Amino acid sequence: MWRNGLSQCGNTSLNKSEHRIPFSMITPSTTRQILETAHIEDVISEFLTLRRGGANLTALCPFHHEKTPSFSVSPARNTFKCFGCGKGGNAASFLMEHEGFSYSEALRWLALKYNIEFQETKPTPEQLAAQQEEESLVIVNDFAQKFFQSNLSGVGLDYLRSRGFTEATIQKFGLGFAPDSWDALTKAATQAGFKLEQLQKLGLTTPSGKDFFRNRVIFPIHNLSGKVIAFAGRILSSFESLSSWKDHPKYLNSAESPIYHKSQTLYGIHLARKAIRHKDECILVEGYTDLIALHQADIDNVVASAGTALTTEQLLLISRFTPNLHLLYDGDPAGIAAAMRGLDLALELDLNVRISNLPHPEDPDSFLRRVGITSFTEYLTANAKDFIAFKAGALLNHAGNDPVKMASAVHEIVDSIARVPDPIKRSFFTKDCASLTGLDEEVLTIETNKAMKSLQKKQATLIVERPSTLSLPKATSLGGRGIERHLVYLLLEHGAETQDASENITVAENLLTNIKDVLEHFEDPLCLRICKECIELVLAKKPVTTKHFIAHENLDLSGFAANLMHENTIIPDPHWEERGFVPESSSSAKHYLESIANAIYRLKLKVVNQLCLQNLEQIREVSPDDEQAMARLLSVQEKLNAARMELAGKIGLVR
Ligand code: UTP
Ligand code: MN
Repeated sequence: MWRNGLSQCGNTSLNKSEHRIPFSMITPSTTRQILETAHIEDVISEFLTLRRGGANLTALCPFHHEKTPSFSVSPARNTFKCFGCGKGGNAASFLMEHEGFSYSEALRWLALKYNIEFQETKPTPEQLAAQQEEESLVIVNDFAQKFFQSNLSGVGLDYLRSRGFTEATIQKFGLGFAPDSWDALTKAATQAGFKLEQLQKLGLTTPSGKDFFRNRVIFPIHNLSGKVIAFAGRILSSFESLSSWKDHPKYLNSAESPIYHKSQTLYGIHLARKAIRHKDECILVEGYTDLIALHQADIDNVVASAGTALTTEQLLLISRFTPNLHLLYDGDPAGIAAAMRGLDLALELDLNVRISNLPHPEDPDSFLRRVGITSFTEYLTANAKDFIAFKAGALLNHAGNDPVKMASAVHEIVDSIARVPDPIKRSFFTKDCASLTGLDEEVLTIETNKAMKSLQKKQATLIVERPSTLSLPKATSLGGRGIERHLVYLLLEHGAETQDASENITVAENLLTNIKDVLEHFEDPLCLRICKECIELVLAKKPVTTKHFIAHENLDLSGFAANLMHENTIIPDPHWEERGFVPESSSSAKHYLESIANAIYRLKLKVVNQLCLQNLEQIREVSPDDEQAMARLLSVQEKLNAARMELAGKIGLVR
């Protein structure tokens, strides 16, 4: 039984990072309970120093660099928001943003903090078995890691020392040694009560019952929350030259297992996550020892791909902490090729990529040891290239003066630019590419557009298109979701109050009845979802409240509501006012019924304006011979114009 294992290896009691239980889901009602119980100021003050300013608390924003605090916490709303970078939400969103948690990890963290028993949707028996298995496998790995660590002496320790690693570094990474024995680990583990089957599942023991790692220096591999999920074992240098690559590879790695998925793993992420966020950049190297050497030199915002081609999952993991990626590769052709492969994926995910190639044949570890940290960082500063410069440099050098090769190089560059989702960035890259290649910018833009179309075609075959539920095409809308947001703000802020005491009507009921006919023209899908849910609340005779949405189990809705309500209620700090920030509520709180009526008219006016434009478009397109159609369109136009005048009059735009 795995629980035996638990008691025998001692210190495996649950800690705060042990909130990750796969498969089972927290139920919506427990989610709500957790979010309503959590106090935003308690949660955030575990990570930041909050200062009191009026009814709210402020801090230096942890999500962007700043010298004066724009990060505010509203205990009354149970929300946070940074007026500098715009990030905001509830306690769960804070943990996700700050700690890189998934939503369910954040909820579990909060549940543990507030001693809330989570009710989870019941996992199926298979899921439950898998979950228990995963937990037990982690415990086996934990045992193995300690076993390797306790065997680190003699040749193993000498080897690590010879590479310049200090005691503290060896400790920090939990490095160890697998003894030169056929079954030392397997014996120790089975004697401690672990099953052979589990050791084999983890690849620690071979099918024939022997130790997989023998006479190797051991590097434990951790997941994001610091659990040991796999190992790598390096051959000792004295054997390196003797052994053939195939039979005795330099590194042996654990096979995939229920807890180790190579494509989702980045070596060192558990130690680097804080620094990556703090420095707002992630350095990516290839090797285990590269990463360790950089850490030892206090460059701690670094992860290693560990010799595999970068995957989308790995890049997504990085993008949870920063959009800025710095690839650090060996300058040989293999290193350049590896960087190229990672590049397009990173661009598609909208990461900002810089690339530094080290002088061949150095890798980060050897180069750092040769030149020292000062020259090393100077080299990086001087040599980091953005992706256009890197790709153009690598490809165009290779092409020389051959126009055919030049053309194919340019096509490859353009193909990368086409993957960048942000149009502004794309156009900057096109400019750079033009100046580097001497080609006409317009030609490059046309080519980029072509490349985008063909990429889209490829992607479109993967996506089943859903018909739009909105009857108005977006292109004809008059832009500006401001009025919708304002109305939703008023709805949530005052919805539960009474509109008319004699008829016992709530503000929400009145407001929603009034905007029913324009709901289908909403531009902002989240505003629409909130209104629809409010209608359901009203029908169920439940109050429409801010709290309902800020503690909503749906993260999109809660984030949206938290931001909206926080923006509109924060008592302005003098220095925010200097920067032109005025909360809407300060002017309209007293006359909210008037504000609501006014907002409804403005919303309707916006829709009528849209319809007018649409109708005009049709008038322009209808054939002049089709008198019937023309007459119909003109009469619609007349009605719309009348409605416009009436609404404008109500708002006070015309008399
Ligand atoms: P390198 O061959 O560059 O090794 O492989 P390294 O990281 O510089 O290691 P040292 O400095 O010689 O000790 C880069 C990475 O590729 C993976 C490992 O993750 C390694 O860190 N690799 C390499 C393997 O998985 N197996 C191998 O046999 C070789
Ligand atoms: Mn190396």
